[in-house]
Amino acid sequence: MDKNQIKNLVRQMTLKEKAGQVTQLPSRYFQIKGSQLTGTENKLGITECEKWQAGSILGKMDAESMRNIQAENMKRSRLKIPMMFMTDIIHGYQTIFPVPLAMSCSFNPELVEKSAAVSAKEGSAAGYQVTFSPMVDVVRDPRWGRVMESFGEDKRLNADFGSAMVRGYQGEDLKHPESMAACVKHFAAYGAVQGGRDYNTADVSEYSLRNQYLPPFKACIDAGTKLVMAAFQALNGVPATANRWLLNDILRSEMEFQGTVISDWGAVMELIRHGVAENDTDAGEEALRAGIQIEMATTTIMKNIDEYVNLDPNIEILLDRAVESILLLKKELGLFEDPYRGVNALREKNQLRCAKNRQAALEMALESCVLLENHAVLPLQKDTSIVLAGPYAESQEILGPWSVDGVVEDAVSVAQGLRNRGGCLKSIIPLPFEKISKQEMEHILEDSKKADVTILALGEPELWSGEAGCRSEITLPESQCRLVKELFENKIKTVVLLFNGRPLDLRSIVPYSDAIIEMWFPGTEGGNAAADLLFGTVNPSGHLTMSFPYGSGQIPVYYNMGNTGRPKELLEQEPRYKSQYLNIPNEPLYQFGYGLSYTNFVVVFDGEIQKLDDGAYSVPIKVTNTGNRAGKAVIQVYIHKMKSKVARPVKELAAYQKVMIRAGESVSINIPLEKKSWDYWIPNIGWTKDAGHYKIMVGTDSQYVEECDLIVE
Ligand code: NOJ
Repeated sequence: MDKNQIKNLVRQMTLKEKAGQVTQLPSRYFQIKGSQLTGTENKLGITECEKWQAGSILGKMDAESMRNIQAENMKRSRLKIPMMFMTDIIHGYQTIFPVPLAMSCSFNPELVEKSAAVSAKEGSAAGYQVTFSPMVDVVRDPRWGRVMESFGEDKRLNADFGSAMVRGYQGEDLKHPESMAACVKHFAAYGAVQGGRDYNTADVSEYSLRNQYLPPFKACIDAGTKLVMAAFQALNGVPATANRWLLNDILRSEMEFQGTVISDWGAVMELIRHGVAENDTDAGEEALRAGIQIEMATTTIMKNIDEYVNLDPNIEILLDRAVESILLLKKELGLFEDPYRGVNALREKNQLRCAKNRQAALEMALESCVLLENHAVLPLQKDTSIVLAGPYAESQEILGPWSVDGVVEDAVSVAQGLRNRGGCLKSIIPLPFEKISKQEMEHILEDSKKADVTILALGEPELWSGEAGCRSEITLPESQCRLVKELFENKIKTVVLLFNGRPLDLRSIVPYSDAIIEMWFPGTEGGNAAADLLFGTVNPSGHLTMSFPYGSGQIPVYYNMGNTGRPKELLEQEPRYKSQYLNIPNEPLYQFGYGLSYTNFVVVFDGEIQKLDDGAYSVPIKVTNTGNRAGKAVIQVYIHKMKSKVARPVKELAAYQKVMIRAGESVSINIPLEKKSWDYWIPNIGWTKDAGHYKIMVGTDSQYVEECDLIVE
């Protein structure tokens, strides 16, 4: 079927049939076991006949249900248009990978691409064709619960990891039955919701929007994402779902997106609560006119289409365009040729949670964890006697938010991981997240005194992050902090493993811990990954992609802050009139890009920066592993424009490379600074090559860097 045949098909469709295609219903309507009714969907009041007009389904599915629903749909569909099945596969379908924020800490987009390919294999085997992923919302506020779903505070990393995921899901050919279409979200600036409170409004200047928030979306569009999801929130006063400037001028015209635009869940009806639509008739029209092409979980367009077209026949042109894009997607997915895409129970059984997929999840987890502190305690010897305590000591609830189809019973707990790797576990003491009792405290102390080291598996409960999981204070629960201090006061050697979905304020445990590993929510293989890192079978190589604030009062704190006329560090003699807090430092507790290893790396420039063709440059760097163990170094290159028409950030990540270096060896590498490194959006000028004098900085994090000058021509 080619584009003309699609147009022909649309011509044969009735208004009702077309409005059905732009409607997406929750799988609950089709009686799938295990899915839940939430929000607006139970209020739709649609008839059985209308239900079967829907063009796509979202939510819970499996191979058998998908086959049954598709068979019924094909029987009922007058024009034999297949149904499309979508869901949220965010960091794995049933084999769960670390949460996206963790994955980005790998600084390894190839590995993330492979993880997404595994997710697509599993998801497609269960009958899905589209995943609502990746999320590339740049986020600077760790109070926002969805921070775990993003790739952190940097646009470059969001662009690289987002496009890696798009490639991983979609593969070379979307027709391949093991691929899935990607849906990049949430367009745009959802990560900038005020106060880090979910669904709140976002006021973002065009300067920040274009330079920070939009580039990751453009990267995913260039990588071929088939769908874009509009954000829930209002951007500069206009809800994204009804934002004509955003969805038409920016997304379609400037970014040249040719795929399908879908609303977020119930977001069309929410236009009424936003106060930009009077009623559902109004809401559907606003959304359609703005460029929404699939209405998720509400039916305003389906219900009101006759009225819209009666009042303004032009609206049918918009509807036709939407239907064409949906049918094109179905065609690209191969659904017209095989509405089942080769889905069957055997394929599903063989694919889901197979050993190969678990191995991929382990590799990803090993590169995602970040060693934050190590005072000569790690790695542990295998015969070290261990007390393991804490809410995550034995818990398998380490998959993290947005792992709806993950199988908790499959997850390897820390205790199990230590056992699997032959650790010498003397005692295991599970604890509640809050309110650790005196007896429990005494029990740990008593056991710890008889062991070589105490490992505390601490953190936030899973529901403290994820959608609607926002928190005003981002500390660990008080009694967990007290436990760490108590052990310190009793001279117990303590290693902390942290399980959480956001950067935390760790001031109250850092001084009292001998080592800290940020595990995030590491997924199915989390416990094995923890043991491999603790025993040094694998050398930690994760680096933070989001600053860990010194305290909540510092938020937002991010490495690429704008320049100020009164920078604290440049005004040493001036005690007061400079940009600072009087009571806390300006710097975060752990800076962007930071991460320790069991070895040390020294990074220096290795000659002059070379100009390549076409505006790109190459930075020669020598990295030496000065320790006695092999490890992967994450070499980071930052740039700063010395003089521009606008106040540019103090530094911006322009390139990075992860390199394995053997103990005692030096490696020379050339890191390219792509042509686009110099592009900047300047008010009243637009996108421009901001040529001239730059400072180029290299290092293994965003603070400790070597620097040199570069004149970009
Ligand atoms: C709401 C979330 O904001 C979005 O990210 C998700 O894809 C949809 N629900 C569908 O579950």
